[in-house]
Amino acid sequence: MNHFLDIHKTDPDALRGIIDQSRTMKDARQGRPAAAPDDEQPLAGHMVALIFEKPSTRTRVSFDVGVRQMGGQTMLLSGSDMQLGHGETIADTARVLSRYVDLIMIRTFDESVLEEMADYATVPVINGLTDRSHPCQIMADVMTYEEHRGAIAGKKVVWCGDGNNVCASFLHAAAQFGFDLTFTGPMQLDPEPEFVGLARKAGRTINIERDPVKAVQGADLIVADTWVSMHDSQSSKERRHNMLRPYQVNAELMAHAKPDALFMHCLPAHREEEVTSEVMDGPQSVIFDEAENRLHAQKAIMRYCLDV
Ligand code: CP
Ligand code: NVA
Repeated sequence: MNHFLDIHKTDPDALRGIIDQSRTMKDARQGRPAAAPDDEQPLAGHMVALIFEKPSTRTRVSFDVGVRQMGGQTMLLSGSDMQLGHGETIADTARVLSRYVDLIMIRTFDESVLEEMADYATVPVINGLTDRSHPCQIMADVMTYEEHRGAIAGKKVVWCGDGNNVCASFLHAAAQFGFDLTFTGPMQLDPEPEFVGLARKAGRTINIERDPVKAVQGADLIVADTWVSMHDSQSSKERRHNMLRPYQVNAELMAHAKPDALFMHCLPAHREEEVTSEVMDGPQSVIFDEAENRLHAQKAIMRYCLDV
């Protein structure tokens, strides 16, 4: 049984297999409406539980549509509506759900919830975002980069802003897919040293550069994310905005990267905060390809988990 809990916890050959299968499945659907089923129905007879303890647009819709395209069925569950949100343990919830469904995707707060779910479930568990990582997003991002520019190995990715959960999964991916990463942001919001260390140990160049203009020199890909994540307190908003304002991705900053550098953002974005509309809607931006590729990448992740 394969869980998909994090990129650094998944075998590199399996990760490459997932990217390859995502491409194959995307190509096979060319021109078909989203509601049309795939020719192959590998999830026929399978029930997938999608649990959300935080809001979501992309993860929710792309998992739901992906399962249906592959012939399976979904059950959307919100944490607060379940007994899970009213005191039932995660371990008991995992064991109960495993009697009903074939696969569990969960978006939650603390990583320990995901881990406990995986420890006690007897069906595969997929990480749909925790406070600490967002692996499905970065699988779609690697797929998107490679569609546009070829192999990501050896490229320079620059993360601008908060060293948050999405940044963490980029560091995990740097280690596994072999690209380098420069983080530029305020010291208080540096990425977790454990994840920086993990990528360095894998032989990758991971730099921390406070000056955003210096950071983006030679960049192949520039990435931004919200300045206030779902797990951050609203009371920290003003302080975070003040710290992060110098790291906004705008046309002037993009001009210091390689001329063919791409721009990515997992979305939802706060236009004119972490990124300007000029960049988001400009020729270097691939944000909507990233969003689309969540669908294709997660279909391949589910097939990996279920071995179908
Ligand atoms: N990027 C992403 O995970 O978006 P949602 O929060 O809308 O799922
Ligand atoms: N860092 C953001 C990503 C949202 C998809 C958050 O956790 O809110």
